[in-house]
Amino acid sequence: MKFDKPANDNPIDQLKVVGRAHDRIDGPLKTTGTAHYAYEWHDVVPDVAYGYVVGSSIAKGRINAIDSRAARRAPGVITIVTADNAGRLGKGEMNAATLLGGPDIQHYHQAIAVVVAETFEQARAAAALIQVDYRRERGAWDLAKEKPAAKPDESDPGKKTGDFASAFAASPVKLDALYTTPDQSHMAMEPHASMAAWDGDKLTVWTSNQMINWCRNELAKTLNLPVEKVRVLSPYIGGGFGGKLFLRSDAVLAALGARAAKRPVKIMLPRPLIPNNTTHRPATIQHIRIGADQAGHITAIAHESWSGNLPDGKSETAVQQTELLYAGANRLTGLRLARLDLPEGNAMRAPGEAPGLMALEIAIDEMAEKVGMDPIAFRILNDTQVDPSNPDRPFSRRQLIECLRTGAEHFGWNRRNARPAQVRDGRWLTGMGVAAGFRNNLVMKSGARVHLDSKGIVTVETDMTDIGTGSYTIIAQTAAEMLGVPLENVVVRLGDSDFPVSAGSGGQWGANSSTAGVYAACVRLRETVAKKLGFDPDEAIFIDKQVRAGGQSIPLTEAAASGILTAEDTIEFAGLEEKYQQSTFAGHFIEVGVDIATGEVRVRRMLAVCAAGRILNPKTARSQVIGAMTMGVGAALMEELAVDTRLGYFVNHDLAAYEVPVHADIPDQEVIFLDDTDPVSSPMKAKGVGELGLCGVSAAIANAIYNATGVRVRDYPITLDKLLKGLPTLT
Ligand code: MOS
Repeated sequence: MKFDKPANDNPIDQLKVVGRAHDRIDGPLKTTGTAHYAYEWHDVVPDVAYGYVVGSSIAKGRINAIDSRAARRAPGVITIVTADNAGRLGKGEMNAATLLGGPDIQHYHQAIAVVVAETFEQARAAAALIQVDYRRERGAWDLAKEKPAAKPDESDPGKKTGDFASAFAASPVKLDALYTTPDQSHMAMEPHASMAAWDGDKLTVWTSNQMINWCRNELAKTLNLPVEKVRVLSPYIGGGFGGKLFLRSDAVLAALGARAAKRPVKIMLPRPLIPNNTTHRPATIQHIRIGADQAGHITAIAHESWSGNLPDGKSETAVQQTELLYAGANRLTGLRLARLDLPEGNAMRAPGEAPGLMALEIAIDEMAEKVGMDPIAFRILNDTQVDPSNPDRPFSRRQLIECLRTGAEHFGWNRRNARPAQVRDGRWLTGMGVAAGFRNNLVMKSGARVHLDSKGIVTVETDMTDIGTGSYTIIAQTAAEMLGVPLENVVVRLGDSDFPVSAGSGGQWGANSSTAGVYAACVRLRETVAKKLGFDPDEAIFIDKQVRAGGQSIPLTEAAASGILTAEDTIEFAGLEEKYQQSTFAGHFIEVGVDIATGEVRVRRMLAVCAAGRILNPKTARSQVIGAMTMGVGAALMEELAVDTRLGYFVNHDLAAYEVPVHADIPDQEVIFLDDTDPVSSPMKAKGVGELGLCGVSAAIANAIYNATGVRVRDYPITLDKLLKGLPTLT
């Protein structure tokens, strides 16, 4: 099905099942421990051996020699695979560094060997006996130091509209400031893990991956196999956040280990290996300049961002939102990429906007103060309903103003004291902050297959994944709505490359795109059913397990009485993305308390008001948003991979030293969804929300801290050492 004009009314609009709060249908499997995660498939193939990955202990250089004699003699060891004996490997297109390194080493903890043994403990013990003789080289590991040598990112050259330099120079009110965000790690609860089994030249990999089809293609390329020979399964995933978008070393080394051992092999990356072996969100240095007239209208806005990566890596696209969020005739955005020899930087939840808004939305708060306006009024004054660099391109829907107004009302914004450091609650200085949330709404081609049996059970199959987001549930809701059956009648099977290729889980496109694919397949199944029952497909109504047309009503089950009916289709988005700018919006409201003596920050209240198209399931969507808000607290106050700039690695590479929020850090969280049905986004009229919930939160916290203390911190995370000097004198 081609989606090339705004959606008409369709069966989804009945909203009998879609749009309602349903528990996750996979919930009981997970809470009872019966859902299989990637490391738990040993019951489907016998005789599984264990692989343990050895990571490079230098960040750049060469391996002179690996001595694995002692390891090979260790108890239980079956085989050891290194680049020397792995055979010729190809390289996928989505990784900056090779997934099995050697002799060249591109980054710290790059995998250089896998030890396969009868037990996990034996594999780990033997891995410790491997002796590696390295030739260490100096690399580039310090973004600030490499910044002057950074080059414009040719793949994303930025945008120029009007004449920024002259307009900025002529502006009576100006801001010119630098903001920095650190490297961050996804730290999904489930580590990267895979089990591989060969059957002749056919490979099956059970893994934890957000994008089944990408993983399958990249695995085939890496192993030089025809793609038909590879099957990838990933039905349950304990968190991804972008860290599992791509093929990683666990899957490649499980496949290589299994081939060498002639047995199925499973591998889990130990937590301390993950931050350096896998990908991370790259640090940024962001330069923002804004000029406004006396009345507060933005006349000039520039946002440039520096990040670093390995030679084949990409920029963190932190200027994305600045191209679209506020009006202003003269604009400039640009990305600069420095060459670094740190582990690969890549997508982490809301890549681009998440760190971009951490800077931009502090800058907007600063500008509002300079022009003497309330920060909400300043944002509303500078709203735009069209792409500011292309007035012919409207937003499909844009409710930023409504998000901010609704939030202000609900949060009690009128109780905020505009002057910083004025409000005390015992030893706490308290304050409120706001930020706009923005994340683009991407749409991706997505396929599905649906079956109807004689009992009225509808089975949906698609290679879509559920990374904890609720995909199972919203897909079941979609099929139930389309075929007029209760949710209990729908079986959803996900995460298997034998199923039609879906959009996968990434870039908050999964919910809207994958359900639109299920919609398309259901439209076909409805046609088949209607014809079978002698109805005109255009007239047939599917409701209450019945099919109705022309005053007649026939049970749905009758259509499948003589055998299962099956239909398959793929939704393809064709053209509306160019005509309309599709984005999602939020208003984030935060109240903090800051200890006047110690600078300790406690978030006291959080509210997110979201406009993100039709909300398919308010319960799972809310869970996405409160999880994202929690991640925003981490980004604002805690998260930072500490770079050792002498040796070139992330030092705090485990959950003891990489700090993320815990329950005690998170107060009451409220989420409001605005009614925002968007017929341009898909037949579902939905958009993404999973990343929007993060976008803007950290800046709202920074702004609340400023309001509480009068200390403006432009360098994340906002730890108490950055506040102490500026706190008011204790009285
Ligand atoms: Mo997302 S960072 O595309 O999983």
